[in-house]
Amino acid sequence: MKIAEGQESKKAGYKVPFGTVSITPKARKLIDTALDTKWVTKGKYVREFEEKFAALFGMRHGVAVSSGTDADALACAALYDFGAQRGDEVIVPALSFVATGNAVFQAGLTPVFVDIRRDTLNIDPDLIEAKITKRTRAIMPVHLMGKPAAMDKILALAQKHGLKIIEDAAEAHGAEYRGRKIGSIGDMSCFSLYAAHIVTTIEGGMILTNCDKTVEALRSLRNHGMAGKFTFQRIGFSAKMNELEAAVGLGNIEIFAHILETRRRNMLYLIDKFRRFDKYFITLKEEAYEKLGPHAFSIVLREGLNFTKDEFVAHIEGQGIDSRNLFYSMPTQCPSYAFLGHRLGEFPEAEYCSDHGTHIGIHQDIEVGQLDYVVEVVERFMKSTGYSI
Ligand SMILES: Cc1ncc(COP(=O)(O)O)c(C=O)c1O
Repeated sequence: MKIAEGQESKKAGYKVPFGTVSITPKARKLIDTALDTKWVTKGKYVREFEEKFAALFGMRHGVAVSSGTDADALACAALYDFGAQRGDEVIVPALSFVATGNAVFQAGLTPVFVDIRRDTLNIDPDLIEAKITKRTRAIMPVHLMGKPAAMDKILALAQKHGLKIIEDAAEAHGAEYRGRKIGSIGDMSCFSLYAAHIVTTIEGGMILTNCDKTVEALRSLRNHGMAGKFTFQRIGFSAKMNELEAAVGLGNIEIFAHILETRRRNMLYLIDKFRRFDKYFITLKEEAYEKLGPHAFSIVLREGLNFTKDEFVAHIEGQGIDSRNLFYSMPTQCPSYAFLGHRLGEFPEAEYCSDHGTHIGIHQDIEVGQLDYVVEVVERFMKSTGYSI
């Protein structure tokens, strides 16, 4: 398939950008006030942000940290307070943003990868039990793109084998599963507050838990393992959030309902419009028992098409639609994981989605007209490749 001339030259100034940051008037005011105190490291705004964020999810404790990766890593490191030993195992999906696997290693534990399902992009719950060993301490499902993982089966397995659940809810703020909020189901849940996410502090993360012992461990881990004034009880991290970031987050919490509803409108609109491409692309669906908390819109090419993912992406990018690869199968496609010795083909679904998948923005600053434009661009592409719609 040939890409028309000039299509690849319009990289800058996207018509449909991937992400956005909403900085509210309230946030600007709080930033000024924080600057005036001349002490902008962790303080009262961080505490207020933790409380308000936890309340959004009906949880008792929030621990604000400097990134979603730190949230994942600290949650894993908190397992040492519950008997984990260095090198013990945490089960994670093969397909996720690489931070999920990296965080397990950063905590001194070992990620054990499980393949995903193509239709949900999430860990295949039926493949988890075979990977549980004497050294498994936790399952860390990821709710990719805001689609809830199959928590019923994961909860049952965790209960049966005495494992903790750490939800990686980095991309799923506001999602719900069988009437429960994502982020309130596991023993701990981790959020990224990076710029492209629903609630953002520009850079930042949050861990939620209802457990007093866990929150004590997490607060200590965030601050070099400190427990009391300059007493260091754990091997800790330096992962604090500062007041300026918390101020941006407090502004976002005020408009959380608006952000979520706009993203849901956009996601559901595109899901509906993409029905016409059903023979060609797999997109996520919202089932009756769940509510998506949309991060972005994933598009996975079905098998046997006469064009490649790269050709499709070059076309939409050329028309001003910003996109990202649908991550990689961490154990078989990330060169940094080669030492684990996994072989290409071991995680066929994750590898398929990586080779054939992309994702585009549906954030709160995107209007319905821009979504119609996306549909037009895709339709034109399909027709130019000889497919009928
Ligand atoms: C699923 C997932 N986990 C973890 C992270 C890490 O978050 P951060 O970039 O804030 O470190 C991300 C980031 O986008 C993510 O998508």
